[in-house]
Amino acid sequence: MASKFIASTLEDYRKLYKESTVDPEKFWHEFATEEFIWKRKWNTVLQYDLLKPEIRWFEGAQLNITENCLDRHISELGNKTAIIWEPNNPDESTLHITYKELLSNVNRAANMLKSLGAKKGDRICLYMPMIPELAYAVLACARIGAIHSVVFAGFSAKSLADRINDAQCNIVLTADGGFRGSKVTPLKDIADEALSSCPSVQKCVVVRRTESAVNWHSQRDVWWHEEFAKASDTCEAETMDAEDMLFILYTSGSTGKPKGMVHTCGGYMVWTNFTFRNVFQYKPEDIYWCTADVGWITGHSYILYGPLSAGATTLMFEGIPSYPDMGRFWEVVEKHRVNIFYTAPTAIRSLEASDRSFADSHDLSTLKTLGTVGEPINLEAWEWYDEVIGKKHCPIVDTWWQTETGGIMISSLAGVTPDKPTFATYPMPGVQPAIMDEQGTEVLENPAEGRLCIKFPWPGMARTIYGDHERFRQTYYSTFPGNYFTGDGCKRDENGMYRITGRVDDIVIVSGHNLGTAEIENAINEHPLVNESAVVGYPHDIKGNSIYAFITCIHKPENIETLKREVVDVVSKLIGPIAKPEKIQICTGLPKTRSGKIMRRILRKIASGETDNFGDISTLLNPECVEEIASNRL
Ligand code: WT7
Repeated sequence: MASKFIASTLEDYRKLYKESTVDPEKFWHEFATEEFIWKRKWNTVLQYDLLKPEIRWFEGAQLNITENCLDRHISELGNKTAIIWEPNNPDESTLHITYKELLSNVNRAANMLKSLGAKKGDRICLYMPMIPELAYAVLACARIGAIHSVVFAGFSAKSLADRINDAQCNIVLTADGGFRGSKVTPLKDIADEALSSCPSVQKCVVVRRTESAVNWHSQRDVWWHEEFAKASDTCEAETMDAEDMLFILYTSGSTGKPKGMVHTCGGYMVWTNFTFRNVFQYKPEDIYWCTADVGWITGHSYILYGPLSAGATTLMFEGIPSYPDMGRFWEVVEKHRVNIFYTAPTAIRSLEASDRSFADSHDLSTLKTLGTVGEPINLEAWEWYDEVIGKKHCPIVDTWWQTETGGIMISSLAGVTPDKPTFATYPMPGVQPAIMDEQGTEVLENPAEGRLCIKFPWPGMARTIYGDHERFRQTYYSTFPGNYFTGDGCKRDENGMYRITGRVDDIVIVSGHNLGTAEIENAINEHPLVNESAVVGYPHDIKGNSIYAFITCIHKPENIETLKREVVDVVSKLIGPIAKPEKIQICTGLPKTRSGKIMRRILRKIASGETDNFGDISTLLNPECVEEIASNRL
């Protein structure tokens, strides 16, 4: 496992960072050569033009990522546990799936998909709970060269249908239902509703999980367990070009329509492996647990591809932190003797708000590294995590990255480089950040503050938005030409450590979920009585941010409480419960510029509790409404 590409000391990190920036092609050529199996080597390491943008890593190379995640480990690690699966209900049995078993199950699932007509290049949608079949399905798609599009199982029928239609998926995999805490989500019913408007879908594969009653469309639906039992457990891995698509994953956009971020086989594999090993400093005996859902990029990169390509034991948890009680995470850490634990600030804050005895009553002594991801972590939560969970001896890696970046970009390396509370700290080798001022000029001296860009390609970067390259260019490469613009604001201290301060565009991060305000507004506007709406985020103790909706009505509502309830329902139905507004304020008008753009800046201030100091509002079309909104603030 020892590799000169995995830093063990601060000196190593400095050396790797330098090499990766002085001669990136040499650096990635050597890492990719030494650490993976390729069916054919590349002609060029990197070709790029960030204006178009066009990015190609390892052009000419051929591989299959599942051979790197599975087959190559079999001779030495065949009987090692690849996945520990922990069910929602602690009374149900845990599963320990070895690398050998995982390979055989992935092959079965791959043959099952083939028998249903799946081919290389097809898009396959996975709308599944956190069960082992989800891991098999993801890897099975990769095995046969089909492009997976995992849709988080908390999304509504409408959101699911939009994503299936955007990618023109021909197969959907789901389950009869999903367990989450004390609730059962009727996944098959939701999928049925979605599929009534998805003509591209030929087959729907259903895993039996909750044994809930389901409707059956005999032309279209098949049971996983029936097809899986018929399938052989050997399946040759499809030969993929390094730049072939591996998956599409949807993330919120500011114009309402979610963006299907495209990641490719070679670069993504290299990046998730490199970052996983460096950041978490995984050692062969470690038990590693990332609490994310596979429906998000964190689950793709750091439950599945990164850890498996590194031959790690990765824990996959079906449940939620609060069921059966707020001690569940710590019970699982104790039960499986977890060494590396990776979660989100929103989970940390909600656990912090519960009684300390939930943590103190469990043996957490196996923990040696803690991680966080998803949003800025506040000092109080950081200190609680450090003290109550890490007992002050675990390094905390605060990992900044995005769906678009494929893997971790800025983070300390556990126990190797220093951490600093609320700072993501230093860039990963291969990452060249730049802070831009309002004029688009790079701020070179420290300390610095501005917008965060990345000025040189890295292997894990998204290549396009599925079906809309122009939107990809516009969103990420037009604001600061020649650079990738992250959409985040950031600060850099006198030592060059980065602190991410949050989104500077119209995205709100609620409980670590990235939500587009425009998408939520579109949903609210579906209510017949709503005339216009403006959605902003405001700080919330547990969720990080919460949603505040300002709405105007076509006529005066008869019952304000009923209207609010209906607005919440429509958002739940069209997007999903995670996007529900916490506060809804009915206004007579929304502040607008003369060109008719809603001034969200002012609403954001009001929502977060500032009721004066709005700057110059005299240029507004309707300045009088500001005072009314401020004085009626909820
Ligand atoms: C946005 C990306 C990356 C997987 C989870 C979210 C915010 C993420 C951090 C961090 C401060 C962070 C940023 C980023 N974010 N990690 N450690 N510190 N902010 O992926 O849904 O694509 O969201 O999450 O604002 O742009 P995502």
